[in-house]
Amino acid sequence: MSDSKVYRSTTTAPVNIAVIKYWGKRDTTLNLPTNSSLSVTLSQQSLRTLTTASCADSYSGPDSLILNGEEEDIQSSKRTQACLKNLRQLREEIEAKDASMPKLSKMSLRLVSANNFPTAAGLASSAAGFAALVRSIADLYELPQTPQQLSLIARQGSGSACRSVMGGYVAWRSGTMEDGSDSLAEEVAPVSHWPEMRALILVVSADKKGVPSTAGMQTTVATSSLAPARFKDIVPARMAEIEKAIHDKDFETFARVTMQDSNSFHAICLDSWPPIQYLTDVSRAAINAVETVNRKAGKLVCAYTFDAGPNAVIYYVEEDSHKVAGVFKNHLPNVAGWDSEFGAAIKPNETGGLESKTVMTLKNGVSRVICTAVGGGPEKVDTHLVDESGKAVEV
Ligand code: DP6
Repeated sequence: MSDSKVYRSTTTAPVNIAVIKYWGKRDTTLNLPTNSSLSVTLSQQSLRTLTTASCADSYSGPDSLILNGEEEDIQSSKRTQACLKNLRQLREEIEAKDASMPKLSKMSLRLVSANNFPTAAGLASSAAGFAALVRSIADLYELPQTPQQLSLIARQGSGSACRSVMGGYVAWRSGTMEDGSDSLAEEVAPVSHWPEMRALILVVSADKKGVPSTAGMQTTVATSSLAPARFKDIVPARMAEIEKAIHDKDFETFARVTMQDSNSFHAICLDSWPPIQYLTDVSRAAINAVETVNRKAGKLVCAYTFDAGPNAVIYYVEEDSHKVAGVFKNHLPNVAGWDSEFGAAIKPNETGGLESKTVMTLKNGVSRVICTAVGGGPEKVDTHLVDESGKAVEV
């Protein structure tokens, strides 16, 4: 008897921003890193990917993915194929043990995905994207695997995605095995341990697109003479230091290590050949502003970090909102983004004392702000992006 049902499962997954950066692969197929890394998962109220995984006997053609309304070519994406293959295999195993289970592993997958933030924001969405893809298919297939086991699959989609399968403070252990079986995510602390962590993202308009991270890391591993010391000694020491700082809720150490590691990552980029530069004058103005705020406070109350682009992510704790985010709100009142849940409560702080040149550069270069906080991991929801007949829902 043919099965006319459309099977569906929908998940949201968060963005994460690393405080100890992943930059370098020891295996490019499996996405095995040269060093461990650590990130803060950000609230899904501000930034999340929503993905519906569906399958049906009636679906014809190969697996497909619609992302933000556009059909993606997933057949030629080795990374997506690796994730789908792993997940199907796990489903086949449970179908083989229980003959009464519908044979979902034999059906085509129809995946529909949407971000709640503009693509133009220039925020790397691959982490949330692959975490949502893996989690939604795992739920569709009713797989028993834990988030940690699923992180092994998400990692093959995009390295940083393995850290988006969990909430709170998440480490990605580099591992040593050649098959990557010990290169996985681990919760360092849940959101509830240190829920006061906040992040202010200054979205900077980039004139031209920078070097994509996958290619950039390859260049760094092949050519930077500073990178081996970072991989071997610097990052392991910093991982230990920042994990202790998180356990102790010691913001000053957290902030110092975060800024040092961002600088170290951008230093090995500049040390690569050809050199890679992600920071712009606007990024450097954000660094100046953070340094001024910290100097005025007489201690570290905020920390900047930058990924493979010019956007600044500024971490601080809630009780310092006025001292930190208030200064930026005072100088950038007309920039979009302050009206969000976390941003509305921030009062402009007129005592900021930023240099006028720094203020000018930020005013001209910051296109929007995102006010957010540490948040939880992927969540199963009922707002499906595929209807009961298998049609993609317009978003
Ligand atoms: C600078 O995870 O995007 O954001 O594994 O090649 O997909 P691939 O790279 P990706 O790199 C992220 C690099 C980073 C640092 C970090 O998130 O740790």
